[in-house]
Amino acid sequence: MQSVLITGGAGFIGQNLVHAWRRARPTDRLVVLDAMTYAANIRSLEPLIADRGIVFVKGDIGDAELLRRLFDEHRFTRVAHLAAESHVDRSIADPQAFLQTNVLGTFTLLKAALDAWRGPSAELAARFLHVSTDEVYGSLGPTDPAFTESTAYRPNSPYAASKAASDHLVRSFVETYKLPALITNCSNNYGPYQHPEKLIPLMIIHALEGKKLPIYGDGSNVRDWLHVSDHCNALMTVIERGRVGQTYNVGGGNERNNRDVVGTICDALDRAFATDATLSSRFPSCPASAGNSCRSLITFVTDRPGHDHRYAIDATKLAAELGSNCNVDFANGLGQTVQWYLDHEQWWRDVTSGAYQAWIDQNYSFRIAV
Ligand code: NAD
Ligand code: DAU
Repeated sequence: MQSVLITGGAGFIGQNLVHAWRRARPTDRLVVLDAMTYAANIRSLEPLIADRGIVFVKGDIGDAELLRRLFDEHRFTRVAHLAAESHVDRSIADPQAFLQTNVLGTFTLLKAALDAWRGPSAELAARFLHVSTDEVYGSLGPTDPAFTESTAYRPNSPYAASKAASDHLVRSFVETYKLPALITNCSNNYGPYQHPEKLIPLMIIHALEGKKLPIYGDGSNVRDWLHVSDHCNALMTVIERGRVGQTYNVGGGNERNNRDVVGTICDALDRAFATDATLSSRFPSCPASAGNSCRSLITFVTDRPGHDHRYAIDATKLAAELGSNCNVDFANGLGQTVQWYLDHEQWWRDVTSGAYQAWIDQNYSFRIAV
């Protein structure tokens, strides 16, 4: 049995990881630490908290005293570190919080783990998994080979720079202090519980509400889409069986440009409205409710500054060393994701009330149609 700390467990990937971990390793003790920023949502964890399946702690990874108490009390043998500021556009608008959490917060957590695992818990065969991003490698041209674990770092946004800095800190703790840490760098996740500020949920929800679908630039930017369930399986494999000190890339093998992704979402919604008559009364502003395509809402708008053109992941190392592969086909995964948002209207209505609207105004009001 392991005693596991999951930071950022109330975020998109974190919630999915908590549920996946409980299913895969029900005897492990899980402690979720999350500061409950705008990106967090605890609803899916509430049943687990109520029946003591997990311990939930609201707190900041930058709070050294809190971390010391948690490590003392729970004698963690696993740390899965996901807490972060994660949205590129927000990092462009206001980078400060990204440095605070992603760099200083990660440092504080590393230090707490080191102190605990060198001290009274020194005998524990502990492991620290730092969850990072492919964005640290920068941007690829259309025919460049995919990122490998030895691709040079070249971050282009404040978010990517803050994640790169955190990766370097983790590496330095391994080399200097022998902290038993590992790093994963993954591509764009999609699936249930993703915050509606990100491309896929934003487009689904805008289409349902009959709002414009704002594609940055000409929509030729390419991302590699990784279903969050495949990502969570990879994380659990790496933390158990990965080699300490190593980095593993995790990708979905699904390179798509943004035009194609948004078009596919529109087609999935059009089909759903054609087969489920209740949707037209639930979402009367959606063009599909009148038999028109959601594609009519697509608008090309002012590009993101420093917008990386293409990401692609070479996940050979993960497959060859640990036998971990991605199984979710993108067309199926995206279809299921569209259906999940149709089935969880109250969830996204709650998430998009209040402060979310202020963000939408800030990020989109200056973007003009191009
Ligand atoms: P998210 O924004 O949905 O969730 C982040 C969580 O961290 C939130 O619950 C938030 O409240 C919490 N948090 C933020 N600051 C904190 C702090 N100071 N202390 C404690 N908790 C704090 O992010 P996500 O998409 O779930 O991403 C999780 C991790 O995976 C991040 O480290 C991100 O960089 C990385 N990642 C995400 C993707 C992706 O496509 N979503 C891809 C690659 C890597
Ligand atoms: O590659 C991994 C990264 O993927 C993670 O590290 C980040 O945490 C995660 O947010 C994601 O970053 P992206 O910037 O790629 O994701 P986002 O959903 O913001 O945008 C995906 C693509 O869609 C990108 O090319 C920008 C574009 N886009 C995004 C939004 C929100 C639009 O065209 N319009 C939009 O409104």
